[in-house]
Amino acid sequence: MSLQDRLGQRGSAGTGSGVLTERIAGANEASGASAGHAAPVSAVPVSGIQFARRSTRRAYDPLAAVRKRAHQALLEQLGPQLYDTVADDVELERRVREALPEVLAKEEGNLTAGDRATAYRQILDEILGHGPIEPLLRDPEITEIMVNAWDRIYVERFGHIHPVEAAFMDEAHLRRVIDKIVSRIGRRVDESSPMVDARLPDGSRVNAVVPPIALDGAALTVRKFAADPYGVEDLIKFGTMSERVAELLRACVQGRLDILISGGTGTGKTTLLNVVSSFLPADERIITIEDSAELRLAQEHVLRLEYRPPNIEGRGEVSIRDLVRNALRMRPDRIVVGEVRDGAALDMLQAMNTGHDGSLTTVHANTPRDSLARLETMVLMAGMDLPVRAIREQIASAVDVVVQLARLRDGTRRITHITEVTGMEGDVITMQDLFTFDFRAGVDQYGRHQGALLSTGLRPRFLDQLADHNITVRPDVFGRSA
Ligand SMILES: Nc1ncnc2c1ncn2[C@@H]1O[C@H](COP(=O)(O)OP(=O)(O)OP(=O)(O)O)[C@@H](O)[C@H]1O
Ligand SMILES: [Mg+2]
Repeated sequence: MSLQDRLGQRGSAGTGSGVLTERIAGANEASGASAGHAAPVSAVPVSGIQFARRSTRRAYDPLAAVRKRAHQALLEQLGPQLYDTVADDVELERRVREALPEVLAKEEGNLTAGDRATAYRQILDEILGHGPIEPLLRDPEITEIMVNAWDRIYVERFGHIHPVEAAFMDEAHLRRVIDKIVSRIGRRVDESSPMVDARLPDGSRVNAVVPPIALDGAALTVRKFAADPYGVEDLIKFGTMSERVAELLRACVQGRLDILISGGTGTGKTTLLNVVSSFLPADERIITIEDSAELRLAQEHVLRLEYRPPNIEGRGEVSIRDLVRNALRMRPDRIVVGEVRDGAALDMLQAMNTGHDGSLTTVHANTPRDSLARLETMVLMAGMDLPVRAIREQIASAVDVVVQLARLRDGTRRITHITEVTGMEGDVITMQDLFTFDFRAGVDQYGRHQGALLSTGLRPRFLDQLADHNITVRPDVFGRSA
């Protein structure tokens, strides 16, 4: 990888200035404007498009000019050395750390000790990390970072979305950071491929979109990889589920029921799947299939498969469907599919119906009933021309339990339904709710939901299947106050 790649300076077709020095000169002009006039509120032309900017003025950043000068000095100083040597990231970091104090020393007159420490950190973040979002990536309380535009960044903390003061210097700066992220996985993002999924070295999931599809300039969304993923205790603490519900889910997993976790985007499906998967017995052979590997199972006998996107020429894709089919030939006891999509649903249902009981997966839907409708649509997408009734029969006999998640207005993520699929009546799949969230309890003065997941009092039919596996559930789990 060249120095430009490493520093995120690689020319990208979208910005129209591929030459390193041009970019720096451009950045300096922009910096002059922002340092001198306090707020870079003007539109920045990129690819000839003028992007609408926010009307509020940004806070004055006195270090911006210093950072830019130091950054440029550093590039000049390290550039020639690094062009020729294949230094790894550790080596690059060592050299930058070595050279930076000297570069900053030239700024002595402008800086207090505190400023110098801040500038040092910011420049390291700039060169070795991802610029202004690096401190957000380090902050363990932040779970999601949303860069809507170079000067408009939001984060999610404890389920709530807040704007932050951090900003990129301009559109070109944001594009450089995006280029840096995607070049690491051998992809590029430009007008001809304006959206890309990638991952940061720590496993965080990244999506970037750029013009022409992103109308207001590049945008970046980062779902941070939790260093320590939530466990069952955490979800109980957050009120996502109660202890009794956890006990019921554990029984369902051990009793080999097929479980579908349903929820909208970011409602906590993967997190719950990870927790539910932790109930899988350690002596069974588990195969996980994911779009991008997020599950972290503690069991030893786990084989992990991951979707492979097509390369730049559009070849070499290995779909979730291919992986499900292949997994069936690997003698699995259980299959865990991160998210079932398109035609893979058919293979998943067939697997569940042909001796791979106890499989777990998630689907994107807002109610338990919708989740089955989604499955039906996805099976139709497999293009097998099956009659709808046959598909519904497959679904009814494959899926035993649907666990519905939702993100409530107060920012908490809760299980809102545990619903049993009981069979068919005519052409309709029948379901019964075992637990539902009590929305009637209302909210307190802070807007927090007071309700809990309550048993409907119905006795699940699957208790007989659990009994076949010697699993009994205490009757008070279905008592009226779970
Ligand atoms: N029960 C929970 N309580 C609080 N935060 C949670 C909970 N579950 C997940 N989260 C946080 O919410 C974010 C989204 O979680 P997760 O990836 O599990 O959602 P998802 O539904 O799988 O999202 P996507 O639709 O993008 O795949 C993560 O940052 C995670 O840490
Ligand atoms: Mg997910």
